Amino acid sequence: MCGIIAYAGEKDGREIVLKGLKKLDYRGYDSWGIAGISEEKIWLHKTTGTVNTDLVGGPSNITIGHTRWATTGRVNKANAHPQLSNDNKIALVHNGIIDNYLKIKDNLTRKGYEFSSETDTETIPNLIQSHMEGKKEGFIEAFRETLKELQGSYAIAAINNNTLAFARQDSPLVIGVGEKEIYIASDTSPFLDKTNKVIFLDEGDWGYYKDGELAIFDSKDNKKEIKAEEIKWQQEDEHTKKQDFPHYMLKEIYEQPNTILKSAEQPNLEEAKQAIKESSEIFLTGSGTSYNACLAASSFFSKQGKRATPILASEHQDIEHFFDNTKTMIIVSQSGETADLIEVVDKAKAKDVRIIGIINVPGSTLWRKSDIVLGMNAGQEIGVASTKAYTATLIIFSKLTGKQTNEQELSNYLTQKIKPWHSQVKELIKKINKDLFIIGRGEAVSYAKETALKVKEVSYIRAEGMAGGELKHGTLALIEENTPVIAITTPKTRQDLVNNALEIRSRGGYIIGIDKEKQECYDYFIPCKYPILSVIPGQLLAYELSISKGYNPDKPRNLAKSVTVK
Ligand code: F6R
Repeated sequence: MCGIIAYAGEKDGREIVLKGLKKLDYRGYDSWGIAGISEEKIWLHKTTGTVNTDLVGGPSNITIGHTRWATTGRVNKANAHPQLSNDNKIALVHNGIIDNYLKIKDNLTRKGYEFSSETDTETIPNLIQSHMEGKKEGFIEAFRETLKELQGSYAIAAINNNTLAFARQDSPLVIGVGEKEIYIASDTSPFLDKTNKVIFLDEGDWGYYKDGELAIFDSKDNKKEIKAEEIKWQQEDEHTKKQDFPHYMLKEIYEQPNTILKSAEQPNLEEAKQAIKESSEIFLTGSGTSYNACLAASSFFSKQGKRATPILASEHQDIEHFFDNTKTMIIVSQSGETADLIEVVDKAKAKDVRIIGIINVPGSTLWRKSDIVLGMNAGQEIGVASTKAYTATLIIFSKLTGKQTNEQELSNYLTQKIKPWHSQVKELIKKINKDLFIIGRGEAVSYAKETALKVKEVSYIRAEGMAGGELKHGTLALIEENTPVIAITTPKTRQDLVNNALEIRSRGGYIIGIDKEKQECYDYFIPCKYPILSVIPGQLLAYELSISKGYNPDKPRNLAKSVTVK
């Protein structure tokens, strides 16, 4: 989703910001822009499409940049950020949504302000300008006044003269602290190669950098002590370079023999297990792929005699009233910044529910909100479609629930199988062009849903993942001659699932079995000894379908890596 990177210091910030924008690429965006101040005047460059790192504007010690994923207003140059104030003295970038922007816009219009974009963001620099009117100085005061009037979510960086101001409310913003310079960004990725000293802003924090001084205030305007943490998570080349792979998605799929091993290293595991043991009820919460992992976890827990309820982060309204201090919520998030999940976590924390976070990005908002963290250890995931984070999460859940999993065995098996699976799915893509169904039972419902999500995301083919037993209750009506159906089995559910596959086959469906052993009813067979790995052929299939259609699987249309709006 939208990304911010700003620089203030003694260097020319243009290259830093442009390269930073490139590093924010992975979040997904449709337009971008940069602004700086040269010879006391603001310059601005913005456009739709991909970030180009050729220098624009003039040398600038304070520079802001933004990648936009459209929310309010279409994808075009006018709506890209930075947005300027009417007097061209303030440039501002914003992530989030200002709920009351129409009212603000209306008031400003009545005062004679003009607007050249459809965005909510453009109201902010103009509101700041209006608070500065009649005052010679006062950008910082006007910035603060403006924040008080904004309703909604925001991460903001704004420049005026020699000042860079920033604020955060329900949208992530972090500060990188260097030698006589600072970086403001939506996550640490655009500046970690420059400094690993990071200040994580809390909700409602705001501040500025001016004449070499960094000041941060809380929501009640108390000045905060400047205390940077050292972040250990370097974005090593191992994770940020594609190496010999044509796409990050493929590289990340192939990394799984290694990430599976890394995810099993959990120093806080015993503490988390104890917390679970003491809890009267367990909730499992996440969105998208992370929620799909929760579905498998629910089955793992149940096999160990513990009930754990999976809840979509965006659908927590009906369970909120069950929150209390005897309960534990296990949250899953690759980015650690998903707005839907942050909302439910805040509600749970307010009622003293204990939070165990399975999070990939160290220092992210959800990482810091968790009482106990089990890091996914998957390394940065750049492809928008989550792959290695899902299997890393499954391994952590298997450890947490005491499922007998030997990750070394899994890793060895995967190393052996990944290439043959890849060749097999290349044969399969000609069978799939319209609809695809994926069925499973028990924990494999999670694998079926996750396979479907991958296929939808990157190949834009309609795919439905579901419980095999549900087919005959409606979806079977969609099965025609040669409709492809993937059946993912587990030892316990094999017989029932095979029966479901037979029902499909008798109606002409084409059955692709992902199973330990070939069954008579499979038209095509992909051997997989361990159900916990059975999503991986599906990840490869999704990738190859995307390639066969000429799409870029790393950047699926309309999607963003880090979903920071509700
Ligand atoms: C799918 C995908 C999304 C995310 C979801 C939650 O490939 O990546 O469905 O899983 O947006 O994101 P996180 O895990 O960052 O909270």
